[in-house]
Amino acid sequence: MPEIPPSRSRRSALRVLVRCAALPTLAAAVQRWPHAQTLAPTPACGADAAPTAAQMEGPYFRPRSPQRDSLVDPGASGSRVTLTGRVLTTQCAPVARALVDLWHADAGGRYDVDGERWRGHVYTDAQGRYRFATIVPGLYPGRTRHFHVKVQPPGGRVLTTQLYFPGEPGNLRDKLYAPALEVAWQRGADRAAFDFVVAVS
Ligand SMILES: [Fe+2]
Repeated sequence: MPEIPPSRSRRSALRVLVRCAALPTLAAAVQRWPHAQTLAPTPACGADAAPTAAQMEGPYFRPRSPQRDSLVDPGASGSRVTLTGRVLTTQCAPVARALVDLWHADAGGRYDVDGERWRGHVYTDAQGRYRFATIVPGLYPGRTRHFHVKVQPPGGRVLTTQLYFPGEPGNLRDKLYAPALEVAWQRGADRAAFDFVVAVS
């Protein structure tokens, strides 16, 4: 079933991009990964920061994913990528024990709708960090390349969103695509990074 994008998500994501350009976590990401020097910033915390933009869940979410930081089953095909980042408040405080749930298509653009392939969740550590070993998701009709993610601070509201890859030819044809939701990544690199900013009361 194709995912039908709401136009409002794109507008709010663009507002986040304008507010959050050139904030400090980008610099940190670039220093960690020399490959990423030309990449666009991900949303960051700090003055005037807004929470990471929410996007639609899509039709392939399954609750109760396994807790694991590697989604790569033995023999699985696909370009490996390690997705890392932090969960932060709008005031830049790390959010420990936040649940980060990741699901995405396989290398051929298919979701496992009956099982747990390419699905998993982890909890952030004391510094708000998370990490997944997985693959670069494949493409399927109507969408550019993307991850699906849910982030929930302890006792807080769930943020449902999607992450995108810079330089993808399909980005500008996908009405859900938002530059503010791009991971720090270079096509072909094996590391991707994104910091989530969540409102915590
Ligand atoms: Fe999807």
